[in-house]
Amino acid sequence: MAARLVVRAAGVVDAEAIARVQRETWRTAYAGILPLDVITSIGERDATAWQRRLVNSSGESATWIAERAGKVIGFASCGPARGPIDGLDGEIYALYVLQSQQRRGVGRELVRACARHFVRHAIFGLYLWVLKANRARLFYETLGGEQVREKVERLGRHDFAEIAYGWHDLTSLVVVDDG
Ligand SMILES: CC(C)(COP(=O)(O)OP(=O)(O)OC[C@H]1O[C@@H](n2cnc3c(N)ncnc32)[C@H](O)[C@@H]1OP(=O)(O)O)[C@@H](O)C(=O)NCCC(=O)NCCS
Repeated sequence: MAARLVVRAAGVVDAEAIARVQRETWRTAYAGILPLDVITSIGERDATAWQRRLVNSSGESATWIAERAGKVIGFASCGPARGPIDGLDGEIYALYVLQSQQRRGVGRELVRACARHFVRHAIFGLYLWVLKANRARLFYETLGGEQVREKVERLGRHDFAEIAYGWHDLTSLVVVDDG
């Protein structure tokens, strides 16, 4: 039987594990949709950068990690919207689950942790940006996200289309169905 999934707030000591999950997931998820130099330069944000973020995160900003048997298998980082869209004041900045652990409900639990965090801080809407070519779009659509904006982002030497998915009502994410 698979070890129980635990979702908890990340501390500075988790910086190394978070950087590892980000590095590994960028390699597997973006291999066919981003150039290798972008994957290594952006996806390989080192543990020091995460340490800084975790030290400074408080109040409305938080990072949540998912672990099984004490091993970090995914994380989500969220906080105030960097550029609010349609009155959505919360943003999920990053969400990654190791490939070997995908499609087992981990991503859903991490998004729920962010939604609950926002509601605790009186933030009732959220959005996140995803590459248009990323299959993760289907995940956000399953969770009830609606396309609220599009933009083109320069990554390395190329432009990439991105889509923002938004939730104006977090009820479905916050309430755990008992079915
Ligand atoms: C996107 C991601 C976070 C989803 O996490 P996950 O743990 O795999 O997702 P869940 O198991 O919670 O999925 C919940 C539901 O969403 C849907 N879903 C998830 N991934 C999907 C996919 N690739 N294609 C179609 N539907 C998908 C399914 O309906 C799934 O339920 P089911 O497996 O019972 O059918 C994860 O796949 C990931 O880290 N991907 C690579 C990195 C990435 O793209 N991150 C997002 C950057 S914006």
